[in-house]
Parts: sequence; structure tokens; C-alpha cells
Amino acid sequence: MPAYQVGYFVGSLSSTSVNRILSKALIRVAPDDLAFTEIPIGNLPLYSQDYDDDYPPQALALKEAIAASDAVLFVTPEYNRSIPGALKNAIDWASRPWGQNSFDHIPAAVVGASVGSIGTALAQQSLRAVLSFCNARQMTAPEAYIQYSPETFGDDGEIRNAGTQEFLTGFMAEFREHIQRVLTVLPRQ
Ligand code: FNR
Repeated sequence: MPAYQVGYFVGSLSSTSVNRILSKALIRVAPDDLAFTEIPIGNLPLYSQDYDDDYPPQALALKEAIAASDAVLFVTPEYNRSIPGALKNAIDWASRPWGQNSFDHIPAAVVGASVGSIGTALAQQSLRAVLSFCNARQMTAPEAYIQYSPETFGDDGEIRNAGTQEFLTGFMAEFREHIQRVLTVLPRQ
């Protein structure tokens, strides 16, 4: 029986996303009592306040999926030194209508992979600022800036490098502890 349900976002819509591969790797090394459900973002229309009185089904499903999660994990690429528009759009939907912010007090972690050595550091900085405003309870350490290569990750998330395996295992173990700490003082409603 899982202790915690984790909803995870993959910030890329690419069919060959290295961040989707990273998400599979993270699930492989996560503690056994975490259960993972992807929260899709690719089907959402572009957010407008015009929808606030009558959210479309895709956006209602997004908010329901977050409400059903004990915590959220963001696995995102860096686009032009920030987060992809599709991910920001999903966060904007979830944060509204005013007074119904889905991220309020939710335990959260951010991670990402790029082919370059910067490993999504600036995207994660942008995402942290957004999640901070959304009042998510972010894990601040450890940080994880992952440089993807096919030598390190198989397509199904197999981790081929012992150091990376150890690091990501530790990251997910810390995330589990973070979830438990946050929910101890701020139980999900
Ligand atoms: C990129 N890429 C990229 N990489 C990076 O390290 N910093 C950046 O700012 C950007 N900017 C950027 C913009 C756009 C529009 C694209 C398409 C790509 C490269 C990026 O890291 C690479 O394409 C990854 O493979 C994207 O992750 P996914 O989609 O494979 O998960």
C-alpha cells in the first residue's frame, strides 16, 4: 500500500523527450511506498481568465489530478533559459480561479535534464520562482541538474552509471522525507 501518491509533470511534449526518460529513471529508483501518476499537460488549451467561470474538462481534470496527489514532481527541460510554455500554461490553469490555487501548500520537487552541461539550472530557477508564488512547499535540497546522455540512461529509464543511480536514489529518498515532513504539519485537505 503506497504511503504517498505523487503526481508528476513532464515539461516536454516531445515524443523523444529526455525528461520523460528521466521521469522513468526517477520512478525506478524511488522508495517503494511512493506511487506515481503522470499529470498530462499537452491537451490543455491556452489559459485565459475568460475561462474562470467555466473551466474546460481538460483543466478540471488537471485540477482534480493535483487534488488527488499528496505531492507533485516537476521533470522539465530548459527552453531559452526558462521553462517550456506548455508547463507554464499548465501551472497557470492549476493556480486559478482566484482562491482555488491547486498548489497551495503542496509538497513539490523540481528536477530536469538537458543534453548540455547546464542541466536545466536556469529553468529550475524560473520554476522555483513560479512555484514559490503558488505557495507550493518545495524541496530546496538536494538540487538535481542532470546532463542526459544515452550512455547514462536507457530509453526505459534504466540508469547505466553507478554514480547517477546513487545520486537519483538519494534525491528521491529525500523527496519522500520532504513529503512526510510537509504533510505532518500541513495535511492535504
Ligand atoms: C532548447 N534546449 C535548451 N537547452 C538548454 O540547456 N538551455 C536552453 O535554454 C535551451 N533552450 C531550448 C529551447 C528550445 C525551444 C528547444 C527546443 C530546446 C535544448 C534542450 O535541452 C533539448 O532539446 C532537450 O532535449 C529538451 O528536453 P526534452 O524535450 O528532450 O525533454
